[in-house]
Amino acid sequence: MKEITLSTKATLYQENELPAEYQQLVQEAKHQTNHSYSPYSHFQVGAAALLEDGTIVKGSNQENAAYPSGLCAERTTLFYANSTYPHLAVKAIAIACYTDGAFTPQPGSPCGACRQVMIEFEHLHKQKMAVILYGAEHSVVFESAADLLPMCFFAESLHGGSELI
Ligand code: THU
Repeated sequence: MKEITLSTKATLYQENELPAEYQQLVQEAKHQTNHSYSPYSHFQVGAAALLEDGTIVKGSNQENAAYPSGLCAERTTLFYANSTYPHLAVKAIAIACYTDGAFTPQPGSPCGACRQVMIEFEHLHKQKMAVILYGAEHSVVFESAADLLPMCFFAESLHGGSELI
């Protein structure tokens, strides 16, 4: 038996401390919460993805009366990015959440399925995707989506996987 520790690294920022291109991305994600279709949860999520050529692709959560048919803002955005610009890597994605009349004080945290999708696109383009989680009190930046999902399932897992450590 051997115990291992899986650790991750993130950086906390005040909104005005974020690097300029991330500040812009956060502004876009915040704006996108206005386009959320969330009549059931009333939890409005906006996302903005920065592609490697500088293009910004935006999306929001889209709900449905058949609840599982809805989709999170992150996946709406990334699927749109990859279907419209399949050759461009996503350098960064920002996420903002608005509920009860205000942006959440703490950063919104992507669900497991969205983390999995982010990692797929990181692997596809062999480029890290920074994840910027906006919170009104502070934002958190992960340098890579992989930092949000240790021991994830990815293409190599279908062929025995790669060594953990
Ligand atoms: N949601 C997102 O869009 N992104 C997340 O990371 C977490 C949750 C959405 C899904 C649903 O429309 C609403 O927020 C409540 O779960």
